[in-house]
Amino acid sequence: METNVNNLSKTSNLINLLHGHKTNNTPVWFMRQAGRYLPEYRKLRKNAGSFLNLCMNPNLSAEVTLQPLKRFDLDAAIIFSDILTIPMACNRELRFVENEGPRLKPIEKEKEILELEISNFEYLEPIYECLNLVKIQLSKDKTLIGFAGAPFTIAAYMIEGKGSLNFLKCVSFIYNNEKLFLLLLKKLENFIANHLIKQIEAGAEIIQIFDSHAKIALNINKFKVFCIDPIKNIIKKVRKIYPNILIIGFPRNAESAYIEYANNIDIDCISIDQNTDIEWLINNLKMSNNRKVCLQGNLDPEILLEGGEKMIVKTHNILESCSNINHIFNLGHGIIKETPIENLELLIKIIRNWKK
Ligand code: CP3
Repeated sequence: METNVNNLSKTSNLINLLHGHKTNNTPVWFMRQAGRYLPEYRKLRKNAGSFLNLCMNPNLSAEVTLQPLKRFDLDAAIIFSDILTIPMACNRELRFVENEGPRLKPIEKEKEILELEISNFEYLEPIYECLNLVKIQLSKDKTLIGFAGAPFTIAAYMIEGKGSLNFLKCVSFIYNNEKLFLLLLKKLENFIANHLIKQIEAGAEIIQIFDSHAKIALNINKFKVFCIDPIKNIIKKVRKIYPNILIIGFPRNAESAYIEYANNIDIDCISIDQNTDIEWLINNLKMSNNRKVCLQGNLDPEILLEGGEKMIVKTHNILESCSNINHIFNLGHGIIKETPIENLELLIKIIRNWKK
């Protein structure tokens, strides 16, 4: 594999900012920055045969992780993997259907939760190997991000068997078997904490916890028990071993509960979706441990897809709104696969030219 490295020792802007320091410019990376909108990704993916083959081959996933950094001036690489590798490592059948997304064998019986375990972490080894490989190749001024899904979002997929707008099957499961659901969350909490610890061991400098479907817990008034508490426990376990690890939380579409999340979780930065009013949040949010407010986000991926004047104006609005806080530029959710590459180039140029 080619290296694009320049291992000169420079301090990463992104890390400085997450430690609460002021930085001269706004760091930027994008959720799903490696993916189908890139021709070089599509080529590699075609040769690999499937998305999971890509994820589970460390050489290929390392190459994919670095692809966007070879093209764009980004501050971070996020490891190329998926949140559903955890259920897979628990022997739950998983496949990805083209243009539809993930399909898991849904959990239906109590026994399936009682017996659920990751027998060993060997299955996830290619992910840690990928982190090792990327770390060697990444220049020192770029940051390596590892990640995991939050217990609630992973559990929702494991019960529903697929993505869904309102996860009705999962909600009904919770109403009928809340204790069992809590046991599932508890087990996932342990697996995820260990998975994150192993990613940090392998070189991840920041970890992001994706709770993409936190809104479902919010709708049934269980945000604290299903989203906040398990994440708090995970962070406690991780920080016991790595007290200073930088953590970004993403309770997507959590609306006003973003405030409760930030108040209660010992986290360095909160990633926000495009439906949240960033100014309102800045005015109302207090981070735990008296940290300086640090937000990541929140350009609408559809505005990036469209590009042009609207994108320029909206990007300036976000940068302006965040000029007095610590801010990492990102989208409110992942890059849409039809997004033109020129739109990303323009967006990064706007961010780089911005002066606080
Ligand atoms: O952000 C990155 O670039 C890192 C890689 C990454 C992927 N998935 C790669 C991926 C990350 C961080 C994820 C997280 C993930 N996976 C989440 C949380 C974030 C979110 O999107 O809400 C969720 C819910 C999943 C589960 C998942 N994986 C879904 C719903 C899908 C289908 C989505 C789609 O666009 O088809 C995937 C597949 C997936 N994960 C792809 C990629 C690049 C597309 C794979 C392909 O067909 O090549």
